[in-house]
Amino acid sequence: GLVNTREMFAKAIKGGYAIPAFNFNNMEQLQAIIQAAVETKSPVILQVSKGARNYANQTLLRYMAQGAVEYAKELGCEHPQIVLHLDHGDSFELCKSCIDTGFSSVMIDGSHLPYEENVALTKKVVDYAHQFDVTVEGELGVLAGVEDEVSAEHHTYTNPEEVIDFAHRTGCDSLAISIGTSHGAYKFKPEQCHVDPATGRLVPPPLAFDVLDAVMEKLPGFPIVLHGSSSVPQEEVDKINKYGGKLEAAIGIPEEELRKAAKSAVCKINIDSDSRLAMTAAIREVFATKPAEFDPRKYLGPARDNMKKLYIHKIENVLGSAGKL
Ligand code: G3H
Ligand code: 13P
Ligand code: NA
Ligand code: ZN
Repeated sequence: GLVNTREMFAKAIKGGYAIPAFNFNNMEQLQAIIQAAVETKSPVILQVSKGARNYANQTLLRYMAQGAVEYAKELGCEHPQIVLHLDHGDSFELCKSCIDTGFSSVMIDGSHLPYEENVALTKKVVDYAHQFDVTVEGELGVLAGVEDEVSAEHHTYTNPEEVIDFAHRTGCDSLAISIGTSHGAYKFKPEQCHVDPATGRLVPPPLAFDVLDAVMEKLPGFPIVLHGSSSVPQEEVDKINKYGGKLEAAIGIPEEELRKAAKSAVCKINIDSDSRLAMTAAIREVFATKPAEFDPRKYLGPARDNMKKLYIHKIENVLGSAGKL
């Protein structure tokens, strides 16, 4: 069946790689994730956001994820390691509902709350979750941008002085931190970036690795999570725009920085937007080049293939989790 994150994270930290945490909202994304994980022999975390629950229904998504374990075996993987994780849980009740129905891991995101309230809420979820061997991700620090209904204009980097107290008092299994990433495809403004003379591409300011280092010094060996880790591949953005889309100055996290993070105690890297871009680019291309097609399989199939290619690339060339089953 589904597994929690405990062993997977312990191995990842020791081995200097990160587990991919890919969001899914539909069958094609799920198939692409599982095919990629099986072909690369990688453990994988399937994430369901509040938006995904609203879109696709929590029960359907849960059965799809449970079915994915059998699907992986059918594809030839004897012992798949697949986690079903609630992404950005915002209340005890939501986390409880996921735990009660078979999720193997949950995030309680109290990062927007005052510190003591974040501690209390996270501890309440941990105390409940651990009775069922479900692992819990907490968060300290605030990412700039919009997360569900909450939006922040600026990053509030994680305060390394708080992490020991937070981890010990809540008992959480992993900690999401804020070091300059954010959600979505517009992570930096062009005026924050400089132009790489070799490629002509915009290069964003670096992540705050000093904050990550300080956190790791306070909590040696503790699993750290990086949200907002899409790289916003320029080829996909270009293809979307070529075929009628209008994405302006979409900028992500350079893969070199994610590679560096993955070698540290960062053992879970969250990627959603890149998959959305890969899907949209492939669908737009079919619509533009084969306007007579109207069978959804004729455009969702290429979309699935393009997402799978992206997932394999992340696993093999960025996170380093290939062959770690
Ligand atoms: O946390 C952000 C994830 O990309 C999920 O996004 O809430 O639109 O499903 P969503
Ligand atoms: P991206 O928007 O960078 O893909 O981040 C996804 C994420 O953090 C989900 O929790
Ligand atoms: Na790591
Ligand atoms: Zn996130």
